[in-house]
Amino acid sequence: RSGSFVPAVVIGTGYGAAVSALRLGEAGIPTLMLEMGQLWNKPADDGNVFCGMLSPDRRSSWFKSRTEAPLGSFLWLDVINRDIDPYAGVLDKVHFDQMSVYVGRGVGGGSLVNGGMAVVPKRSYFEEVLPRVDAAEMYDRYFPRANSMLKVNHIDKGWFEETEWYKFARVSREQAGKAGLGTTFVPNVYDFDYMRREANGESPKSALATEVIYGNNHGKQSLDKTYLAAALGTGKVTIETLHQVRAIHQQPDGSYVLSVDQIDTAGQTVAHKEISCRHLFLGAGSLGSTELLVRARDTGALPDLNAEVGAGWGPNGNIMTGRANHVWNPTGAHQSSIPALGIDDWNNPTAPVFAEIAPMPAGLETWVSLYLAITKNPERGTFVYDKATDRAALRWTRDQNTPAVNAARSLFDRINKANGTMYRYDLFGPQLKNFSDDFCYHPLGGCVLGKATDGYGRVAGYHNLYVTDGALIPGSIGVNPFVTITALAERNIERIIAEDVKAA
Ligand code: FDA
Repeated sequence: RSGSFVPAVVIGTGYGAAVSALRLGEAGIPTLMLEMGQLWNKPADDGNVFCGMLSPDRRSSWFKSRTEAPLGSFLWLDVINRDIDPYAGVLDKVHFDQMSVYVGRGVGGGSLVNGGMAVVPKRSYFEEVLPRVDAAEMYDRYFPRANSMLKVNHIDKGWFEETEWYKFARVSREQAGKAGLGTTFVPNVYDFDYMRREANGESPKSALATEVIYGNNHGKQSLDKTYLAAALGTGKVTIETLHQVRAIHQQPDGSYVLSVDQIDTAGQTVAHKEISCRHLFLGAGSLGSTELLVRARDTGALPDLNAEVGAGWGPNGNIMTGRANHVWNPTGAHQSSIPALGIDDWNNPTAPVFAEIAPMPAGLETWVSLYLAITKNPERGTFVYDKATDRAALRWTRDQNTPAVNAARSLFDRINKANGTMYRYDLFGPQLKNFSDDFCYHPLGGCVLGKATDGYGRVAGYHNLYVTDGALIPGSIGVNPFVTITALAERNIERIIAEDVKAA
């Protein structure tokens, strides 16, 4: 065992973590980031850092012997997933009893594997979800700051209308229009100028080569290229990879001690470390940060954590569905993997839905229209510590997703009716199923702002202990969440550095 002290430790390298580390570094605070995944910057034998979606290899998945793609089947055939060697790959699917959650693993967290959609929530809904956060300050200062740091950009509308790569989105827009539904362009962190060069054959293809959930080799401005590069540039921030934090406890002098396992890419533990710090920031994501705190509370390591730790979890109302188009209405063999359009029915008083029009980049015509619907599901889950496995278990039942499925159904029933089309039943596994209600991409909550923490993410019951990530948001935000996570982290860290860290 080796022991060392650093003034500040940030656990994880996703959005909340990256923001916190940058601002700490700028304030001159030596900061160590601990990330369980790898740094994705070395090309493998095929010359690429990441593998593609159509022929995934071990780089795709976090210690799985078979890939676990969101669309598990096509015409009910198990043609999508592949056997692979267990490895410290980039995408994890964490399985709880009745819900599975996709998360990114590596320097950049979810930014490595996500669709890059960078959406500021509707202000009225933000105010409803986080009533005690000053919305004026968020919309005037922190959302713009997040958008500019994340390099959010907009697709050229002229190009969108003419390119074959977004035919799938135009088809879905027209069909939504027939049902009286409007669409909106969705900003992204994928560089749309780069994408146009891909389309023109001037640059290596990434979004136009089906890359996304197992990483993009080009074009995406993931956190390693934005916030984390800037953080390292301060000269005060260091990142240790393949370092998994297992436990947290506190010393009599108030400092925190982390028990950390260093692993290799085959998953073997190569070292145990004890790292202590004065200020500890949890940015391990909704699942990761919540698990660390639930474990700390219920093993007695941090007994003063309150009963709100673990509560208020939700999947942001995520439901996927697919529609079958008529043969005369193809969606295109060539589809960009980066979505650019959403059906916006959030102001619907009975069943609000924001549905991104998702690609199905299969390299051949499928006549499928695919969607990720974000709905307003009031149901919440709770993480509880399971002593036998030393893990946090998620109390969430499948039927808690019924309100989300019903909302999605009411929207897509309208679209099907207006177009004389049907659902696809073959995409989500071996059984007949037209809605995916058992997995999500947007885990939110577990350490809710103002409940498990104060109004700035300071964990209740402790000093110098902070949550900075998606765990702060109470289960729903109505749009894809990373811009909100980033902006909230910007707001919180500014206050914490001014009041806690500089004062110390
Ligand atoms: P995030 O999950 O990003 O980072 C946590 C990091 O901590 C990870 O790198 C993890 O490995 C590490 N970690 C966890 N436990 C640890 C431990 N014990 N020790 C050390 N390290 C640990 N959102 C959006 O706004 N637009 C979009 O288009 C999409 N699309 C999308 C697609 C897919 C496939 C996924 C999986 C997700 C999305 N999302 C999305 C969701 C988005 O990526 C997600 O909300 C954010 O990444 C969450 O940011 P956080 O800062 O909360 O943690």
